[in-house]
Amino acid sequence: MSVERHVAQTVPAAPPAPGRDDSSLGSPPELKRTLSVVGLTAFGIGSIIGTGIFVLTGTAAANQAGPALVLSFVLAGCGCALTALCYAELAAMIPVSGSAYSYAHAAFGEIIAWFIGWNLVLEYTFSVATVSVGWSGYVASLLAQFGLHLPPALAQAPFDRGIGAFAIVTTGAWLNVPAVLIVAAIAALCYVGIRESSGTNTIIVALKIAVIVLFILAGVSYIHPVHWHPFIPPNSGHFGHFGWSGVVAGAGVIVFSYIGFDTISTCAQEAKRPDRDLPLSILASLGICSVLYMATVVVLTGMVSYRDLNVAAPVALALDRYSGLRWLGVPVKLGAILGMTSTMLVMTIGQARIFMRMGADGLLPPWFSRIHPRFKTPANGTWVTGLGAAIIGGLFPVRILGELVSIGTLLAFITVCVGVLYLRRKQPDLPRPFRVPWPKFTCIGGALACAGMILALPRDTWIRLIVWTAIGFLIYGFYGRRHSARIR
Ligand code: ALA
Repeated sequence: MSVERHVAQTVPAAPPAPGRDDSSLGSPPELKRTLSVVGLTAFGIGSIIGTGIFVLTGTAAANQAGPALVLSFVLAGCGCALTALCYAELAAMIPVSGSAYSYAHAAFGEIIAWFIGWNLVLEYTFSVATVSVGWSGYVASLLAQFGLHLPPALAQAPFDRGIGAFAIVTTGAWLNVPAVLIVAAIAALCYVGIRESSGTNTIIVALKIAVIVLFILAGVSYIHPVHWHPFIPPNSGHFGHFGWSGVVAGAGVIVFSYIGFDTISTCAQEAKRPDRDLPLSILASLGICSVLYMATVVVLTGMVSYRDLNVAAPVALALDRYSGLRWLGVPVKLGAILGMTSTMLVMTIGQARIFMRMGADGLLPPWFSRIHPRFKTPANGTWVTGLGAAIIGGLFPVRILGELVSIGTLLAFITVCVGVLYLRRKQPDLPRPFRVPWPKFTCIGGALACAGMILALPRDTWIRLIVWTAIGFLIYGFYGRRHSARIR
């Protein structure tokens, strides 16, 4: 399908972007162009800051990169910045919701679009699950501060990674109940249709940034440089653990922290000046988050030995370690909990929109694209997302989930980078309100950086991805191929 046809077919039904007012679903094609650079940047930061910085930094420092995790953040940040430019070109050129799925559909056709859409389930639904586990860890830590200790059997994952791709060990816990409850609550909110205005989002973003800055400023005086030695711990012999390979593997894990900048591209129809504002805000949100992340990691690994950070709430652990910082525990934990809640909201809304778009294209049953008659939301996709994320978040630990999210997302990123070059060649005359600078360097560099991070992820994660992809293609073979053809 050509880009023009894709846009023509999809724009009239375009739903609002994730996090935007649901009430305009099914309304006329033109959404109001109200978002400026500041609003768009706040929207991006709202999606970006979540479990990645508050949880995965600890596990990645302890298991992959040690104090050199800050270098992993630099590497992942560079890969994401190049990819972000590519997103900006496609978003300005194909201003429809559906993000990478829609771009892949326009550029490469249905099979690749299905592959990417299926991987975006890894990005969005599994992100909700991952963030719910982080949320649960911070809630448990906050309650413990008030003397209320949740029984580990009801607040931890019953399964953990064994040795081998599908070797799972039991932990003795039954279910991560807080994770299940928060996903259910978020799904219920999205089902009835939340109105998260740009103003509310900006307040939440300000709070998230405030708690991170507070942590950095307060923690700086508790840094013990001895914790930074060795800066890059020697390779422990396992693939990807410490050493330079650990730094790259760490980037593959913590790329999760940067996920969310791509949601800005789904606001293309609401940006005042998409050609200028989209790329600016994508890069601004990434830049701001990168600086905050790097400073947080430097302080965190300076306060506590990386060996001790393999816990559910590492930032909370660092604060609890020092009596002079305990006062900060409650506000920082509350801020983290609030921040993660908003990330889950945006991701749930985003997944339901992508399911809706795939349902409209015939790749999933049309049931997914049905709008709730009363609430005017894509209710079916919403509760499917909630159910899937609740089961996954209730059963598995953050590390396994985070790696799967990263690998699925990195694949989508590569497609977007390659898609830009491909469309420039295939349809060079299409209007491009924003053009990636030095396209060969940017697109190929972005794709290579993402591919490098994928290669550095543990082999188990690849095998899980291969199985996930195989299941996806079975569904496509038995359902999508036939039904999408009817729609065409
Ligand atoms: N970037 C988001 C987070 O860290 C998904 O939670």
